[in-house]
Amino acid sequence: MNDTPRSGPKPSQLLLSILSLLAGLLGYIVWERGFREHPQPDWVRRDDPTRFMYGSIGAEKDAGIPYWIFYVLPRIFAEKLPGPGGYAAIGLPWEEGQELPIGFTKKTLGFPRVANNCALCHTARYRTAPDAKPVFAPLGPGHTTNIQAFLRFVIDCAKDPRFNSDNILQEIENVTHLDWVDTLMYRFFIIPATKQRLLERESQYPSIYRTDVADWGRGRDDIIKLFKYSLNPIDDTFGPADFPAIWNLKKYDSTPGERDPQRMNLAGDTWDAYSVVMDSALGLLGGAPHDSEELIEEVQWITDYTKRTPPPAYPFPIDTAKAADGQAVFDAQCAFCHADNSGRVGRPLPLVEIGTSRGRLDRWIRNAAVRANRAVAAMGIERRGLVEEDLIGYKVPHLDGIWLRAPYLHNGSVPTLRDLLDPASKRPRVFYRGYDGYDPEGIGFIAQGSEAERIGTRHDVSKRGNANQGHEFGTHLSGEEKSSLIEYLKTF
Ligand code: HEC
Ligand code: HEC
Repeated sequence: MNDTPRSGPKPSQLLLSILSLLAGLLGYIVWERGFREHPQPDWVRRDDPTRFMYGSIGAEKDAGIPYWIFYVLPRIFAEKLPGPGGYAAIGLPWEEGQELPIGFTKKTLGFPRVANNCALCHTARYRTAPDAKPVFAPLGPGHTTNIQAFLRFVIDCAKDPRFNSDNILQEIENVTHLDWVDTLMYRFFIIPATKQRLLERESQYPSIYRTDVADWGRGRDDIIKLFKYSLNPIDDTFGPADFPAIWNLKKYDSTPGERDPQRMNLAGDTWDAYSVVMDSALGLLGGAPHDSEELIEEVQWITDYTKRTPPPAYPFPIDTAKAADGQAVFDAQCAFCHADNSGRVGRPLPLVEIGTSRGRLDRWIRNAAVRANRAVAAMGIERRGLVEEDLIGYKVPHLDGIWLRAPYLHNGSVPTLRDLLDPASKRPRVFYRGYDGYDPEGIGFIAQGSEAERIGTRHDVSKRGNANQGHEFGTHLSGEEKSSLIEYLKTF
């Protein structure tokens, strides 16, 4: 104890106030440079498609990758991508003049971070001629995007000893200047933490390194969206699912009290659009939301947007007389299931009636739905949710915008509509998925030939998860009937 008379603050007190001032300053810097949230720039919300393609759904906080790390990874680890050209090698649709591919969001929380939104898998890209510019169709299937290659790429980078602060900072310095605060943050906090998080992803997506089954290839995934909340960590099932189009979702709306309402997802495992959108968003967030109100608002906006947006029109001329003949064929052969008022559309049919590959069906079980519903309810989120029943077969799909939904069937195993009208024994056994050149003869994407091979991923129907059998409706029709039926399907 010191009992000399006071003549100002004691040295120890002075030291304490200086220290607490410094701590406060440090705390402020850490908050400002590490966490402070800034809204996305205004242009992101200038119109609905832009908001859908680039708008944050709040995934940057837990599932984000620091922007500058995302930027330099393909420069340091180019050999880990499936081909040359940086992220373009995984088929991400990329608009000219945009800083990031479609489906990638940029938001600053202390430092700029990159995460994903729905457009990653739900935006189609096509070209009407070899030298034509690509057209982007938000809400269409992201048939060019290789999600498996993307997930593997970032995890493979994190596993590499070259993923360290020295290397990454050096590469970042080549493209931008970080001030000393940011440099320290990146060196001691951001880079090591990112490495850790990316490594953890391997256990979140156990099926991405499987070698006993087919690669997903471009345009498909193995129901990873629901994985985290529901499935056992690993089991032997495999059910690759073709990315569906998510336009015009009001077609699924039921009237209150309807006895057998339409359902969503490929096997009809979810009750309504809001539930699918919510579950998909939670999947992208990678965990419970930090701000449920903000999430609910965004999910509501996406649901509304998907409900009110029609599919894009077929971009080539249509022979209307021929299409009228085709309508008669459709009414006789297909309307029984696919017409809007069939009572079957949007509802699962027993698999024996269709006979397509059963992988996706076996992948999802009643218990998984129960677990996922419980997990989401525990987050305080209300939704009608997943159907807690055993699944019997695939849902009869609506055929709106079918011209842009190739390759066909739930596992994307048939390249064109013309091929689908052939018996399974005559459908292509090997083709290439994910090339964006359009094939107006077959109705689908060009799936053979040098460009399709160079850019696409090989789909071999003999591999597990790839089978193209079943749905042999209309295969007995004459060549002329098939042609007019196809002409009619272009009008959907
Ligand atoms: C990683 C790719 C991926 C991302 C990201 C993704 N989805 Fe999906 N989505 C799929 C796949 C695959 C299916 C089919 C699932 C199944 O039934 O197996 C699907 C199904 C759907 C369906 C059901 C369509 C129907 O007709 O039944 C809707 C709606 C949907 N997604 C909306 C969204 C929304 C909204 C987001 C963003 C919050 C999103 N998805 C993010 C891949 C993705
Ligand atoms: C008995 C009911 C039934 C009949 C009849 C039927 N379909 Fe289907 N259709 C289905 C089901 C169920 C699926 C989903 C199968 C799957 O993906 O495994 C499907 C899938 C499709 C697809 C693929 C959709 C996509 O997004 O990949 C197309 C195209 C299609 N049908 C067109 C037709 C045409 C054309 C006819 C008439 C020649 C027809 N269907 C007759 C039940 C039927």
